[in-house]
Amino acid sequence: MIADLVLNNTKAYIKGEILECSIAIEEGKIVKIGRPPQMPSADQKINLQRMLTLPGLIDTHVHLRDEQKAYKEDFISGTSAAAAGGFTTVLDMPNNQPLTNSVKTLKTRLEIAKKRTLVNVGLYSEFPKNLAELPQISREGAIGFKLFMGNQVGDLNIDDDQALKEGFKTAGKTNAIVAIHAEDKNQIMLNEQKLKQAKHNSPKDFLFAHTEQVEVQAMKRVIKASEDVVDGHLHFCHVTSQQGLETIKEAKKTGKKITCEVTPNHLMLNSTDIARYGMMAIMMPPLRDRTHQEALMKGVKQGDIDTVGSDHAPHTFEEKTADSVWEVKVGIPGLETTLPLMLTLVKKDWLTFQRLVELLAEKPADIYGLTNKGKLEQGKDADLTIIDYNRPWTIEASKFKSKAKFSPFDKWKVVGKPTKTFVNGNLVMDENEIITKPGSGKIIRKEKQETTP
Ligand code: DOR
Ligand code: ZN
Ligand code: ZN
Repeated sequence: MIADLVLNNTKAYIKGEILECSIAIEEGKIVKIGRPPQMPSADQKINLQRMLTLPGLIDTHVHLRDEQKAYKEDFISGTSAAAAGGFTTVLDMPNNQPLTNSVKTLKTRLEIAKKRTLVNVGLYSEFPKNLAELPQISREGAIGFKLFMGNQVGDLNIDDDQALKEGFKTAGKTNAIVAIHAEDKNQIMLNEQKLKQAKHNSPKDFLFAHTEQVEVQAMKRVIKASEDVVDGHLHFCHVTSQQGLETIKEAKKTGKKITCEVTPNHLMLNSTDIARYGMMAIMMPPLRDRTHQEALMKGVKQGDIDTVGSDHAPHTFEEKTADSVWEVKVGIPGLETTLPLMLTLVKKDWLTFQRLVELLAEKPADIYGLTNKGKLEQGKDADLTIIDYNRPWTIEASKFKSKAKFSPFDKWKVVGKPTKTFVNGNLVMDENEIITKPGSGKIIRKEKQETTP
């Protein structure tokens, strides 16, 4: 056998251990991991200079925009940011223009993504107008369904518990995961109204509209509505509060498939940073007090939190700089800061390396049924994240591949840098340079598509 590529002289994260080895790749798959003498000959060899190889990282929560929001980000810039940040697979949220929530809008978006993506991309759908269309959207390739509870985005009436129940039932029968943004729309509206009337428009006032109770209330409603649903998987996006995490921990005890995510923003920053970074630190759900930040960190360490997602939410600089917080667009880019921030936590001994790989590769692959990803093993896809584990460097938002060249983490000093990103055996990023053409990434679909009658 002559392999396409052999990577030599690396330390690879394999089954919880870091092993010195070589990795052979053939037709986009890992065909052998072993000592150099055991390697097949190859068309190309790369010396990885003892850098660390991780299973390709998976970000299950990004907003790549494109279509009519391409001025904020498009598939090329967004997936370039992913590759630069060490991500080989990203799952794209459906709050697009047009909204992704039908076979038609999904098909169009898949066609566009196919031609423009540099890493593997899966697309979420919002709930369709007619729930009967949901299985078809799933078959067409939706990686899962997103439910925004903070405002009415899709066509499932979020004010109606019965509608939520029907939505979860249909998704469950289709074996489709539901990813939830848990904030209660009506509470936010009430709080916002009062604040606006009193002319409270500063960044800090955002917290009084998006309280912990807003998060917990939405979680409780969702959990209750899914009580009688036997199948199904609920994945709570960006948990931000201690009480929210407790609510999820309780719900997990029922044995149902319930998982949750945290963002690096809520792990690394707290509400005092709003004074420092102003509108740049406004996101939904918001940054909270230090006690919550500490509870989240504990949840990450103990395994109560399953994944880390960037919630990469690009906007233009102008959109982030209104006078009133109610006019500002919420969210910040995260694809190029997530891995270095998490590696820095490991370096500081706040997190084990094993947890980092679980949170960013193994669990995301598990939860989304990506059986060929998440681990370095013979036969798996050759998605690899190469990192210089000890390299100190400074985050420079102006150098982001994302169109959104701002971040509260701008100028932060971090340790550990993704230096090469291989997607299906192709070198996509090398020392922050993108070296493949758009369209080289693959569209990924949920692998287990069987439905229950
Ligand atoms: O901060 C956020 N940004 N939260 C959301 O729920 C949406 C997202 C976006 O699309 O910008
Ligand atoms: Zn969200
Ligand atoms: Zn989001």
